[in-house]
Amino acid sequence: MSATPGSRQSPAGIYGAQVATLLNGAMVAQAISVVAELGVADLLADGPRPTTELAAATGTHEGSLFRLLRALAAVGVLQDGGDGSFSLTPMGQLLRSDVDGSMCEYAAFVGGDWQRALGALLGAVRTGSTGFEAAFGKPFYEHLATEPEAEARWNRYLDQTTQSLLLDDNVLDQVPVAAGETVVDVGGGRGQILAELLRLNPGVKGVLTDLPFAVEGADEVLRAAGVADRCDVVGGDMFHGVPPGADAYFLCRVLTNWDDERCHALLTGIREAMAPGGRVVAVEGIVPDGGGPHFTKLADLGNMVVGGRLRTRSEWDRLLGGAGLGAIEIRTTRSVVFTVIEAQAT
Ligand SMILES: C[S@@+](CC[C@H](N)C(=O)[O-])C[C@H]1O[C@@H](n2cnc3c(N)ncnc32)[C@H](O)[C@@H]1O
Repeated sequence: MSATPGSRQSPAGIYGAQVATLLNGAMVAQAISVVAELGVADLLADGPRPTTELAAATGTHEGSLFRLLRALAAVGVLQDGGDGSFSLTPMGQLLRSDVDGSMCEYAAFVGGDWQRALGALLGAVRTGSTGFEAAFGKPFYEHLATEPEAEARWNRYLDQTTQSLLLDDNVLDQVPVAAGETVVDVGGGRGQILAELLRLNPGVKGVLTDLPFAVEGADEVLRAAGVADRCDVVGGDMFHGVPPGADAYFLCRVLTNWDDERCHALLTGIREAMAPGGRVVAVEGIVPDGGGPHFTKLADLGNMVVGGRLRTRSEWDRLLGGAGLGAIEIRTTRSVVFTVIEAQAT
């Protein structure tokens, strides 16, 4: 029997449901984000609870909350008890704030200004500008510098993913630093990662540098890790220069935030600032060659929103080589997301 339009056997019948599922992705992401923002998963930590109680505890409209929770039960994040109560599935457990691998800050971040910037993707694709510029009229980091709530949310997201994507997977074990060396963490935020790197390598000195607003609170992080006496903090714009004379320049999740032109300027500046024989060590995801599916290909749209890009191995070779860095070594890690890329001054 030949397929008729709209029947189960027609392409529309077969693929329509799949396309609809993909199109509903924005609603799913937003729904998860709202539940995370409201702290619903923490309220369900001890087991099922009725919507009435959840609405009272979160100060929300009961009928609307019920529909939100029912929608998330339909995609497997929650379990619908059928009597107005809901509980957490294994996926939902990850939205709790107190579990290993918690993704609640990730979820909250995805729903905020980020969602608005993603909504401006059409403008970004048309013009080559970034989603943030299209949505907010200014680049991502300028937006953060002027919006304290957005910055706080971003910091919470970074802290949580630092723990779950980097530290829990021992990515820093693959970062090549030796006793007696000085490492500059460029764009190192409040120093959570550098603090851990220094803690793991007692003979190494550190310099943390990032935009002035981003290093606020770094002293406390370094002190808490017991490494403050081996680490300086320098607030400044990395495109205007980095602290000179170090052996290694560490860039974790930084180069993927910028286009090739900006990265070339940054890496050239670092190359000129480093001690003779110095090196760059970057921690980033690498897009595999070829046409197969890979999470980096979708994640790259997130980088487009802030004005950067995820790169293939040959794109990294070109970028680093163009800035006078070579002998590139790629170190795989236990992380499914991150690779350590080392390049020496040539
Ligand atoms: C994705 S975050 C990564 C932070 C940290 N390295 C990590 O992996 O958690 C990128 C960092 O680059 C910093 N940054 C952005 N523009 C900068 C600039 N012009 N100069 C110095 N740092 C900058 C941001 O403040 C932010 O901390």
